[in-house]
Amino acid sequence: MPANTDYYDALARDYHLLYRDWESMLEREGLLLRHWFADRDVSTVLDASCGTGTQSIALALIGYRVLAADPSAGMIEQAKRNAAASSVDKQISFLQAGFLDLARMVDTENGLDAIVTKGDAFPHLTDDLEIEETLNGFYRLLRPGGTILIGMTDFEPLIKERPRFVPDRVHDPEDNEGNQIIVFEVWDWDDGPPLIVTINHFIVTGHGDQYDAACYPIKMRALTADEVQVVLLEAGFEDIQAIYDRSELVMIATKPK
Ligand SMILES: C[S@@+](CC[C@H](N)C(=O)[O-])C[C@H]1O[C@@H](n2cnc3c(N)ncnc32)[C@H](O)[C@@H]1O
Repeated sequence: MPANTDYYDALARDYHLLYRDWESMLEREGLLLRHWFADRDVSTVLDASCGTGTQSIALALIGYRVLAADPSAGMIEQAKRNAAASSVDKQISFLQAGFLDLARMVDTENGLDAIVTKGDAFPHLTDDLEIEETLNGFYRLLRPGGTILIGMTDFEPLIKERPRFVPDRVHDPEDNEGNQIIVFEVWDWDDGPPLIVTINHFIVTGHGDQYDAACYPIKMRALTADEVQVVLLEAGFEDIQAIYDRSELVMIATKPK
């Protein structure tokens, strides 16, 4: 299992605090994924880093068959609860596995139509060999003509700016105690090579003059579109497109027929 599993297990219950509105995000993810899959003949999708179910649930809600995998047991449990709340728990199969386990653990006779990994899971692969093995595994799991879709932070402008303090949001009180929740990040850069950034997520909860802070640090490789393009080509993918959606870079590629 990857080294960051404890981080995600701990964050699972608070994960929704990193988003403004879960329901509208599910709807948006579904619309975009359906748009990106148009004309690609996709019905079965492996969500290789499902987290709390953002893409898996969005896809199941619009009729795709989904295998949702994640190495964090906490994230999988939360995804199951979220899927049940959206009444799509029967349309999704769950698997506790990291990227490097998938080629061995996923059983597919004719190959999958698509593999999705969104929400910055891919940059958690900090080592060249892990990246190479992961993409080779995805390639083996896909059917000829199958689609790989990677969604991650576009680190290109951030590498130049090297931000240290990244404000996120304030959640106004929702509990009976009137607690406010403030979310922000502190980024620590390490030149490497490879260039790694540790993102410290702070979640500050309280009211009046009493606040408690929790810090969740996570390491990411500051990958750029050019670097991802090269590793996709090396793994054998073709027709590589880079789409910029708000702050997310979405790379889509095809396994040759
Ligand atoms: C920021 S969350 C994104 C989850 C979801 N895709 C979303 O967009 O909300 C990143 C997820 O990647 C998973 N992850 C971290 N390292 C991974 C690895 N090596 N293989 C597969 N998933 C990994 C984490 O457990 C976590 O659930």
